[in-house]
Amino acid sequence: MELESVIRDRYSVRKFKDDKVSEELLNKLMEISVLAPSAKNVQPLHILTLTSDDALRKINEASPCIYNAPVVFVVCYDKNNVYNLSNGTNSGSEDASIIATHIMLEATNLGLGTCWINMFDEDKIREAFNLPINEQVVCLIDLGYSDTIPADRHNIRKNKEEIFELK
Ligand SMILES: Cc1cc2nc3c(=O)[nH]c(=O)nc-3n(C[C@H](O)[C@H](O)[C@H](O)COP(=O)(O)O)c2cc1C
Repeated sequence: MELESVIRDRYSVRKFKDDKVSEELLNKLMEISVLAPSAKNVQPLHILTLTSDDALRKINEASPCIYNAPVVFVVCYDKNNVYNLSNGTNSGSEDASIIATHIMLEATNLGLGTCWINMFDEDKIREAFNLPINEQVVCLIDLGYSDTIPADRHNIRKNKEEIFELK
């Protein structure tokens, strides 16, 4: 697909079909997503890719927003291996958000649907998947085949003049 069509076609999927995502498609998605840029190219990312019944059961207990997805990415960055800025912050959330966006767009390109999720119980995820304290969870990305159309609010966007200010 052309990039513009991918961007136009993507929407948040809140109902997934039971169909599994093939290993081949999943590998392709991961291969393309790691091309995402990161600050100083540190790539402080660690993404749990949940596909087993046991892992999906656990993530469903940690978030009300899994929507029957057959794959869930838990997008984390390593606080011990991230680009630190002089103002005391780091680029981990930005790096994680960029790769999560790549996942969403490449998924659309491959005919799959996604939903970005920030409603989750981090402690439950930490415990269920033995995440060490240095790993910061930024978001979940649900992945699978869409069984729904875009929600009404998908079509509500500010116009470009409300967001971009020409100077
Ligand atoms: C940072 C972020 C957090 C979000 N968290 C959730 C969430 O927890 N649950 C959910 O159902 N959708 C979540 N969404 C999806 C948004 O509600 C959705 O992107 C927005 O309404 C626009 O709709 P669209 O993605 O269909 O264009 C999130 C999206 C973003 C970017």
